[in-house]
Amino acid sequence: ETQILKKDQINQAVEFLRNGDLVAFPTETVYGLGAIATKEESVKNVYKAKGRPSDNPLIVTVSDENMMKRYAKFVPERAEKLIKHFWPGPLTLLLLVKEGSLPDAVTGGLKTAAFRCPNDELTHELISKLGYPIVGPSANTSTKPSPTTAEHVYHDLKGKISAIIDGGATEVGLESTIIDLSVETPIVLRPGQITPEELSEVLGEKVLINTGKVSDKAIPKAPGMKYRHYAPSAPVWVVDDVNDFEKIDFKSDTAVAALDSVLAKLNLPVENKFSLGKDLKDADHNLFSALRFFDDEDEIKTIYVQGFDEGEKSLAYMNRLNKAAAGHHFKK
Ligand code: TXA
Ligand code: MG
Repeated sequence: ETQILKKDQINQAVEFLRNGDLVAFPTETVYGLGAIATKEESVKNVYKAKGRPSDNPLIVTVSDENMMKRYAKFVPERAEKLIKHFWPGPLTLLLLVKEGSLPDAVTGGLKTAAFRCPNDELTHELISKLGYPIVGPSANTSTKPSPTTAEHVYHDLKGKISAIIDGGATEVGLESTIIDLSVETPIVLRPGQITPEELSEVLGEKVLINTGKVSDKAIPKAPGMKYRHYAPSAPVWVVDDVNDFEKIDFKSDTAVAALDSVLAKLNLPVENKFSLGKDLKDADHNLFSALRFFDDEDEIKTIYVQGFDEGEKSLAYMNRLNKAAAGHHFKK
């Protein structure tokens, strides 16, 4: 049985982890699935619980920079700058790893590890009390949208993990920005709330953006990127121009996820609509809930989701939505 733990039960979560068990934890982005990062057997069970391909490495979640220093080969000045400015927060740093300090199951056998210090009180307490970093892939079944509530985690992983720390709905709703600092020019491997422009400003230098085109044969820089992602069972279509919503041939099995202002103009029953809120920030927060909502409705056969074109601000949202839609865009 999977237990739901409240904020005064962190000690119990610490006990589970020390025993080698798996515990899901809240962060400001999405829920993560934790195991002590240095316990190889527990880490392997994280892959099993998620149904995740074993060559896709895991984020190392730390309580602060000092904990990270035990596992990073060294901390470049760029990392110091970004940590000062953005930690704790939704930014993951790819650094060279101290050889032998973490199991291959964590790094996928790479020379780097992805370090993240989330901005969440409960998780900070958890890792501090534990004294060890925990791995932190999103706590969903592989290929499903990342979980933004404890209920989402329970839906996917009940019976497979010991506990879920319930910290309520996550604030950001999309996973952290990942920046690779192990290479000559810093490069954003996964867009998130913190934009390349903001990173570039703090670093005082150019930051590249990975375009995400990875072939199956290549060793991808962020191995997760080659896998199917965020996909509900019904096909998803991105609607880039809101005027196109009126051209869709709506049937009872059609669903729409869009901003309130867009939904208000559509002649569709309420149960076929999912509100993404009032603006892009709300849409970031609600996207994964929307995809999950219609996933559980068997009668829904097509899901149309509003696209955004707000430059770097909408990069993360469009990255996740494009993957959910497998690149399908609606045009009439
Ligand atoms: O916001 C987040 O980052 C959430 C919360 C729970 O912290 N975690 C998360 O983990 O999104 P996950 O495993 O779902 O995504 C991490 C991505 C994967 O695509 C993985 O391939 C990549 O980071 N990654 C991890 N370690 C890596 C490494 N050493 N080199 C390259 N990519 C790495
Ligand atoms: Mg994930």
